[in-house]
Amino acid sequence: MFYEPDLNNHGLPFNPFKSCVVPRPIAWISTINANGAVNLAPFSQAAMVGSDPPYVMFSAGGHEIEGKRKDSVENAEASGEFVYNLATYDLREGVNISGQITDSGIDEMKAAGLTPAPSTLIKPPRVAESPINLECRIEQIMKLPGKSWSGTVWMVIGRVVGIHIKDEFIMADGKLDIARLKPLARLGYMDYTSVDHVFEMGAIDDAQAGTWRKAMGG
Ligand SMILES: Cc1cc2nc3c(=O)[nH]c(=O)nc-3n(C[C@H](O)[C@H](O)[C@H](O)COP(=O)(O)O)c2cc1C
Repeated sequence: MFYEPDLNNHGLPFNPFKSCVVPRPIAWISTINANGAVNLAPFSQAAMVGSDPPYVMFSAGGHEIEGKRKDSVENAEASGEFVYNLATYDLREGVNISGQITDSGIDEMKAAGLTPAPSTLIKPPRVAESPINLECRIEQIMKLPGKSWSGTVWMVIGRVVGIHIKDEFIMADGKLDIARLKPLARLGYMDYTSVDHVFEMGAIDDAQAGTWRKAMGG
């Protein structure tokens, strides 16, 4: 099938777009407002966008109240900082609870039964239960036009300045034990997945690359 999102002519009972870019990692973002109140929210429009230096981003649509932006964006812009906490399968209930829109100033970390842990270089706290926390300083915020207020998005890019990893997830060979971390990811609809199986595939060597180039007429 082929369809144009502008025409929405997919003919399916559910819009398939969010199932076409999967699995999406969930950036579980903690921020603070000017009064120091903690905010926590998950964003599956999220990614790593650079590694040297490391950058991550999350993208938030407009608030359900027309004209208002989500607290995570407001706080990140005003304070210049946020923490990207790794959302995991074991923490899925807390992720879901913190995804509720609540009044600004309500501590969603507390509401979700989670514990704040102090960050090392920035003010917003980390989620203590999360096995990986990236302390970020804002690099850039980009506004992308939407067809509605909620469709308008603010892409918040942060430079990662500090990284916490729980030692228990570092294996004897020095690699992170992803299958045990079980990172949580979003699919389309109300579906989720988590990573519980890892396979390795090395880069092809020079000889293989040469054969491949020859076969392609290069
Ligand atoms: C798993 C999950 C993923 C979500 N991803 C996004 C997203 O990518 N962008 C977005 O605007 N809202 C997303 N939401 C909804 C926000 O988390 C929700 O609007 C929110 O809690 C905003 O909070 P804030 O106003 O405290 O920033 C998601 C919710 C859940 C449960």
